[in-house]
Amino acid sequence: MQKLKIILIVFVLSSLILPVQAQETVRLPEPERKGGMPLFEALDNRQSLRSYSSRELSERDLSNILWAAFGMNREDGRRTAPSARNWQQFDIYLIKADGWYLYDPAEHALVKKGNEDFRQYAGSQDFVATAPLNLIFVSDHDRMTGASRENREFHSATDVGFISQNVYLYCASEGLATVVRGLLDRDRLKELMKLRPSQHVILGQTVGYPGN
Ligand SMILES: Cc1cc2nc3c(=O)[nH]c(=O)nc-3n(C[C@H](O)[C@H](O)[C@H](O)COP(=O)(O)O)c2cc1C
Repeated sequence: MQKLKIILIVFVLSSLILPVQAQETVRLPEPERKGGMPLFEALDNRQSLRSYSSRELSERDLSNILWAAFGMNREDGRRTAPSARNWQQFDIYLIKADGWYLYDPAEHALVKKGNEDFRQYAGSQDFVATAPLNLIFVSDHDRMTGASRENREFHSATDVGFISQNVYLYCASEGLATVVRGLLDRDRLKELMKLRPSQHVILGQTVGYPGN
């Protein structure tokens, strides 16, 4: 009887713990935070490219891209991009061949949310399905406390630009290809990524090494 009780307790506990464990956390290497091309040269090189190699991004580039995009650059948790009233309402999801992830800026880590390759749903242009990385910028209206619906939408549209431009500048500096994209099925992505009603897909951004 005692043995049966223990087996039952272990079963109940493991069913509670396992779904949490499915969200594997992948630590990224420390971002470099120094170096790169002089700012004016990066501005001179900034451009949208639509031809990508399918080669996986290095861990170094992945780490630097995410930190540049919207990483924490100060002790108090403030970020590399500004946000209205410091709401920090944006999350960055990553859609890759080996699954989809959420960037955790405090840990500078990726939280794996699923193993599916959703790249074919990350945009309507052909290169999106074969490029190694699509960033999906998601605004959480619940974080914009005290704002009207109109203002939540306005600041979702304005603040995403800073994050995207940070990615553009890193890519310009390192010779990577990138393009920000409004052509994506927001409702489909929201459903696939099981987002909450308050979370809104705003833009996507493809990143990779340049193709031919
Ligand atoms: C909000 C926004 C949405 C965009 N959406 C797309 C898109 O869906 N697909 C695409 O190929 N380019 C997209 N672009 C990139 C523009 O086409 C590009 O920035 C423009 O042609 C100027 O080229 P440049 O970035 O090389 O200067 C978008 C740009 C912005 C700012």
